[in-house]
Amino acid sequence: MMWTQRFVAVAAGVAIACVAAEAQSGDVLTTGRAITTTGVGIPRATVTYMNLAKRFSWDFADAQGYFGHSPTGVIPSVAPGIRQTTVVTAAGAMLTLSLAASNRVSIELFDLNGKKIANLYDQKLEKGEYTIRPLASLSGARAKSMCLLKISVGKEVVYQKAFDAQLIGNTAAAGSVVSKEPVVAMRKAVLLAVDTVRVGMTGYTPVKIPITRYDTAIGNVTLAAINIDSIVNAYFGRMTQLQKCGQLAMPPYPIAAGTLASNFCGGAFGGGGCFSGYTPTTTANLHDGYQNALMGTTLRIPAICAYDAVHGASAVPSAVIMPHNMGMGAIQDTVLIQKGFRVAALEVRGTGANWGFGPCIAVIRDDRWGRAYEGFCETPERTQLMARHAVLGIQLTDLSFPMTYAACVKHFAGDGNTLGGANPGTTEGPDATARAINLPGYVSAVAVGAATVMPSFSSWCVGGQMHRNKTLLTGWLKTATGPPTTTPFMGFVVGDWEAGWPLPASADAGLDMPMAPGTGVGIISTNDVANNNNFNSIYNLGGTYPARLDDAVRRVLRVKAWMNLFSQDQYVTNRNLTALVGCALHRDVARACVRGSLVLLKNNMVGGVPVLPMPKNSTVAVWGTGGNDVGIQCGGWCVSWQGSVGNPTSGGTTIYQGMQALATGGTVTFVASPAAAGATNYVVAVFSENPYAEQGGLSIALSGGPNTSGTNGAVITQIAAAHTAGKRVIGILMAGRPLDISGVLANCDAFIWASLPGTEGRGIGEMLYSDQGYKFTGKLQVTWPNNVNDEPINVGDGKTGLFAYGFGLTD
Ligand code: BGC
Repeated sequence: MMWTQRFVAVAAGVAIACVAAEAQSGDVLTTGRAITTTGVGIPRATVTYMNLAKRFSWDFADAQGYFGHSPTGVIPSVAPGIRQTTVVTAAGAMLTLSLAASNRVSIELFDLNGKKIANLYDQKLEKGEYTIRPLASLSGARAKSMCLLKISVGKEVVYQKAFDAQLIGNTAAAGSVVSKEPVVAMRKAVLLAVDTVRVGMTGYTPVKIPITRYDTAIGNVTLAAINIDSIVNAYFGRMTQLQKCGQLAMPPYPIAAGTLASNFCGGAFGGGGCFSGYTPTTTANLHDGYQNALMGTTLRIPAICAYDAVHGASAVPSAVIMPHNMGMGAIQDTVLIQKGFRVAALEVRGTGANWGFGPCIAVIRDDRWGRAYEGFCETPERTQLMARHAVLGIQLTDLSFPMTYAACVKHFAGDGNTLGGANPGTTEGPDATARAINLPGYVSAVAVGAATVMPSFSSWCVGGQMHRNKTLLTGWLKTATGPPTTTPFMGFVVGDWEAGWPLPASADAGLDMPMAPGTGVGIISTNDVANNNNFNSIYNLGGTYPARLDDAVRRVLRVKAWMNLFSQDQYVTNRNLTALVGCALHRDVARACVRGSLVLLKNNMVGGVPVLPMPKNSTVAVWGTGGNDVGIQCGGWCVSWQGSVGNPTSGGTTIYQGMQALATGGTVTFVASPAAAGATNYVVAVFSENPYAEQGGLSIALSGGPNTSGTNGAVITQIAAAHTAGKRVIGILMAGRPLDISGVLANCDAFIWASLPGTEGRGIGEMLYSDQGYKFTGKLQVTWPNNVNDEPINVGDGKTGLFAYGFGLTD
């Protein structure tokens, strides 16, 4: 996808200057241009503030290297129709709004999750020119780190700008409209704080510039290209054959730091459950111990360390668990998607890991697949979009920034497109179709710099098991990823769990670093020549693929050079990030993702009004195990591999808890059955599955899973009875894939598809109550089957599902 225009003009009596929502948070106000030493603009350089309170503010330079709000360093509000008439003064800036025709003008304040904080002004105004004045004095700092001010004319946003929260004062001081001069609570960001702008890009030396205000034009920022090859060569040239083998080994946690170092291991990793019983601090300690031990060796090469960051730093207790990818795939706001993955990046780094196994970019072609929820959606087009934004959220475009980690897109390729949804299975052919469906996501991910790729356990329709598929791993991925203008994949390929055996064939096919939990460090030097399963036998003793050894080691070193891992601020954990794991602001972002991920499938009118949203004083019975269980909300890959009911982590809220906190003047009770709802007006019926992962999901098909609060039997009867009794029944399905809801849908007045929302269940409650002011925006990421016999069912295949791909009501 092309880099989009940053400012879009729309006719509404005035021109609109708004930040394109395509690829950046839009919160970076500082303007400038990233250029090479020869003065050429650097596209997509990452621009961030180093102030941790602004960790969700970032920008990417445009195609000419410009960043901030406009190429010229001028605030984007300078556009026909609305213009800045006074440059910054201590009291703020003055804007002039030209109305070509009479229209309604509203000025609103939002937090950065999109939640409205205040209506500052809302009036119909005649044609003419109006001055929007800043506040004279400020008070009452807002809770969030930054606020967004939006000015709309009619329905069009003509101005939006992020402000430092401290600078948005008490709206009572806003004053009132004086003739044609509406005075509003608005102030340009006159800064109290000093911050540092960091401009960086993978492969360039980053530049840090101190600023005293957030609207500064900092002009040209020259980034010098790093000679990555010379760094790689320098380390490579010092390595013995055994050390090279060590560089390709990643023993499982919690290997002793001394063992890791004495074997010169290149990495360490953990599968599901590796950090049960750990805290963010002890996890960070473990990683720091590894790095310090390795930096104490003659080689001085830090390790690349990963666990399954499937939905947030999900292996570590107390981390914020984001919605599973399937839920993220329903979100329409790409900035929010990036923010969700930024939370993951910040928290993974906070726990000391610098690499994560994710995102999974499987295309979910058969909902019976046990890992369906790990993929974003069923189409290659949307998978491309999601892969791009997920990787940008995790890595930004600067792997050397210590608040990003190396992503691992998986499982290459065709894992979600197996015959019958088998896991692992064989990808449906023919080859050309399988490529058209399953490869585009990798083109996108590689194009934005995905550092590593994990092959799938599954087999391609031709050419066999993916770990040994040389045609795709080397011939396509490492040589010809995507169109000719795209650089092929230069990172490394990490194997899946014990999936690289026998190693020679996989190494020859393109596997660089196998995942060998059982073998541990033995993989380097154990005398296992008989099985031909260790590097020493393959590369050294046997000498089977000496060229592959060199290439694999160079690839691992290249990723480390991209990451600037040899520098102390990269290999040692930033404990400020550790302190932020599970913090309120991260949970706010996760909650915004939950809200955006919900798909409203049905919303009947009852008594002339839609069932959703409900008034906050409603009397509500919440029913269904999943309605009050964080573990069920999270599904698999939550601290443990399979996940568990109850609360396997700390923090988070259930739907029921969230609703209780939000209802004022009403009641919310949790009931054992819909029949026990008593005199309440509403029943919120939560249908759910118990957590599972991988093969654990295969037996479930689409019937509703092992959880008794599925959609069959007694449940159907009780939902029908509640409906017949005149209650408004709101069905919520929390599951790892669309289920057969035919038994209950007719008796639900409203129905929400919630996927697996993660720890922040309150986000669902927020969508239910009218006073919260949110609208449903999520769209179906899959075609909803009528029942299991429809599978596989996908848009464009001529089948008619219960709900079409892309469907979603907006209330
Ligand atoms: C899964 C991978 C995962 C790995 C490590 C495998 O079973 O297929 O997705 O990254 O385990 O936990």
